[in-house]
Amino acid sequence: MVMSRAVVEDQGVRLRPLRLSDVDDVVAACSDPLTQRFLPLLPRPYTRSDAVWWIEEGTEAEWQQGGGVWVIADPATDRLAGTIGLHRVVHERAQAEVGYWVAPWARGRGVATAATVALSRHAFASGFVRLELITELENIASQRVALGAGFQREGVRRGLSPDRDGGRTDLLAFARLNSDRPGPVPRWLPDLPGGALTDGVVTVRPLRPGDEDFTYRLLNEPDVVLTSVPPIAPDAEEIALRCARSQAHWLSGERADMVILENSSGRPVGDVGLYYQERNLGQAMIGYAMLPEWRGRGLPTRAVRLVAHWAFAQTSIARLVAGTNPRNTGSQRVLEKAGFQREGYHRSRLPGMNGRRLDDVPYALVAADLLSDKNA
Ligand SMILES: CC(C)(COP(=O)(O)OP(=O)(O)OC[C@H]1O[C@@H](n2cnc3c(N)ncnc32)[C@H](O)[C@@H]1OP(=O)(O)O)[C@@H](O)C(=O)NCCC(=O)NCCS
Repeated sequence: MVMSRAVVEDQGVRLRPLRLSDVDDVVAACSDPLTQRFLPLLPRPYTRSDAVWWIEEGTEAEWQQGGGVWVIADPATDRLAGTIGLHRVVHERAQAEVGYWVAPWARGRGVATAATVALSRHAFASGFVRLELITELENIASQRVALGAGFQREGVRRGLSPDRDGGRTDLLAFARLNSDRPGPVPRWLPDLPGGALTDGVVTVRPLRPGDEDFTYRLLNEPDVVLTSVPPIAPDAEEIALRCARSQAHWLSGERADMVILENSSGRPVGDVGLYYQERNLGQAMIGYAMLPEWRGRGLPTRAVRLVAHWAFAQTSIARLVAGTNPRNTGSQRVLEKAGFQREGYHRSRLPGMNGRRLDDVPYALVAADLLSDKNA
């Protein structure tokens, strides 16, 4: 495969070779903190001579290896909005890796997604069969670009990249084949409409960086630990990762971790999570926990109802299940008030403390339960 250096006009963007007149824009964009954060192999500080070397020699080497580097330009002005490249070409596999950055002045307008679609079409037309796109688990914008450009998530590649501190970073791999359907990858768990759900008393929104202190306190409450699977209190590092990677899990369609806010105080008071591991069955599990001082006010029931309505209306989930400890009457009341029905008794279903096993009382909710007057 050999990529042509001809200008590509597609998807509302222009892809053209870099030239020396781009140097100021390259220095400004590659010095930006977000670019530096997610492209750890870039020199720091990024100087004018780094940009000149890259334009004159670095990009040339990519062309020689069968890939290439393009400026993503605004077709109206030809000004650089970002760059996109085809790297790490494996000729015998007809495979290459797509990488990009968008300058701070051009972000959030669909430039990266449009350029990734345009370059993929160009690469497939030139004989490539498989394109990879590798990103950090914390890089949510890039994961959205991947899904928006039709790249499917394939999994975590452990320790794939060296980081700036001498360690290694896990990276998330996406790929698109030339035989894949055009268009974005459908989401199992779409975004909450407007970013949150509310009934006027509580608001449910995605867990995110900044929620660490609250989450640490909540998940270290002794009775919350006892009902966790496994029943182990998470440490601060685990909580930090949970908050940083929550959006990546949501995008993967595997789980949606959410915070419950009490509207009049605006404070986080609990959490609610949706775990969609049985997608072939359309069955997901729901779990929740409240800070002790906010219990007894019906707030988790409201949160569970909000999430259930969203799940049945916006996703393929047809059945929501939940499990409770046989002695956890508070949790059983939450489920019953939210319309769930008890379905039996599971002996020794869950891991307990010190190697013991715990019984579990299973509940389930189907869409029809929510439509009955009592629970509407
Ligand atoms: C990743 C990057 C290229 C995205 O560029 P962009 O032109 O803003 O991307 P788009 O406008 O096509 O937006 C893509 C999606 O990301 C979302 N997004 C943009 N910025 C975001 C942010 N800071 N947090 C979460 N999502 C964000 C957009 O809403 C959009 O989502 P949608 O398509 O699901 O609606 C840009 O943020 C960047 O240059 N980052 C630094 C370098 C980098 O990360 N390169 C990729 C390394 S793998």
